Amino acid sequence: MSLTTVHTVADLRATVASWRAEGLRVALVPTMGALHDGHISLTKLALEHADRVIVSIFVNPTQFSPDEDFGAYPRTLPDDQKLLDGAGVALCFAPSVDEMYPDGFATKVHVDGGMTNVLCGAARPGHFDGVAQIVTKLLLQALPDCAIFGQKDYQQLMVIRRFSADLNIPVEIIGAKILREKDGLAMSSRNRYLTPDERAIAPTLNRVLASITAAAASGADIGPLLAKGREDILSAGFDPIDYLEIRDAQTLDLVTQTVTKPARVFVAARLGKARLIDNHAIEPSHTAG
Ligand code: PAF
Repeated sequence: MSLTTVHTVADLRATVASWRAEGLRVALVPTMGALHDGHISLTKLALEHADRVIVSIFVNPTQFSPDEDFGAYPRTLPDDQKLLDGAGVALCFAPSVDEMYPDGFATKVHVDGGMTNVLCGAARPGHFDGVAQIVTKLLLQALPDCAIFGQKDYQQLMVIRRFSADLNIPVEIIGAKILREKDGLAMSSRNRYLTPDERAIAPTLNRVLASITAAAASGADIGPLLAKGREDILSAGFDPIDYLEIRDAQTLDLVTQTVTKPARVFVAARLGKARLIDNHAIEPSHTAG
């Protein structure tokens, strides 16, 4: 099956309706384009859950603040289409900003509470409102059986699970594991911003997270681990660090002493023009108390 690209909600809906008439299952993979192997791993997972896969490509202006990289964000539709075609994706939905936010658009989707005020929510005010707004629209426009989101944006995944449950959106939200380069760097469209020297430094984040994870899982005190991690990240050349924190894997509440329940260690730090994020799961192997 070769890839078809549509640019309007009407064409998206007509295609999905024709698949529904054949009794087919549908998966959606929302993206902002500049696709890489990490995205392709999401489409592979989607194909395990559905007969037809849609990939949306839309650089959503409402999730960027004015000082961020909305203008510079890579837009590579022809290359993206080639990749999707080779990956067995049936439909690429690539709407314009006017199609998604026509004149008179006035609706916001806001997820309240701790989950959106911490980590990237604190560092990027308004970011998750923009994500919630666009993902709500995409889910309702396509109404797939399931939608796939990468765990590199773990906080985003948790926010999406929250509002889709709260709003009774009838779509199963599936998290996909992080795909890494051979040297451990988490795949990201923003890795394109790195110079060769910065690219050599970038895997430090994964190394620091891995060593914090191993020690925290066996019951080490978190304070000194994070202090050493910060020192290693800064001395590698990252500056500033937005956060390096351990949080509960479900609630995202801060963990301050030792890890006794499934948790995750999260980092966001700037290297040259790129703001890189990553996280690792911590499964405690020691017995508390
Ligand atoms: O993770 C992303 O690429 C974006 O935040 C998403 C989910 C496609 C919404 O614009």
